[in-house]
Amino acid sequence: MDILINEVRLQKRINELAKMIEKDYQGKEIVLIGILKGSVPFLWELSKRLKNDVIMEFMEVSSYEGTESTGVVTIKKDLSGNIEGKDVIIVEDIIDTGRTLTYLKQNLLERKPNSLKIATLLSKPSRRVLELDVDYIGFQIEDKFVVGFGLDYNQKLRNLPYIGYIE
Ligand code: IMP
Ligand code: MG
Repeated sequence: MDILINEVRLQKRINELAKMIEKDYQGKEIVLIGILKGSVPFLWELSKRLKNDVIMEFMEVSSYEGTESTGVVTIKKDLSGNIEGKDVIIVEDIIDTGRTLTYLKQNLLERKPNSLKIATLLSKPSRRVLELDVDYIGFQIEDKFVVGFGLDYNQKLRNLPYIGYIE
């Protein structure tokens, strides 16, 4: 296992993202929708740095088996609250082909939030199949399969405190 992004760099960058979000949402309540399971560490590190009122919601979708995207997105767990009229940020671990977030954005917009943005810890732009506007990106990375800090390989390695990669 090689380290791609260590703990210090992760914390520093998440701090910067939190500052940007605070500036964009001055005094507003924010609904953070964490996409289970990979977004959990990022959602926590980001949310604890925000001075805004934060509501945490979670969704679970699946579009991925092993290391290959199947391209089909299904909702396995839906929100528990209503987001109509709310300022919502989807919090994701990584955007790869863009299929998951394109589907989710469309699905959530139908619920009429006041605003909807996307925050992702990682992005692999070279892998994009669907064009997608992403508002907050932690790190752009090359086309490597990464694990840790929420990201898994067959459900394991999510608990690593850094982002590593498997050759
Ligand atoms: P997309 O729909 O292709 O953008 O895929 C997004 C999802 O694929 C993420 O939420 C991850 O669960 C998974 N994924 C994509 N790349 C990686 C990776 O390098 N490591 C672990 N999971 C990944
Ligand atoms: Mg995911």
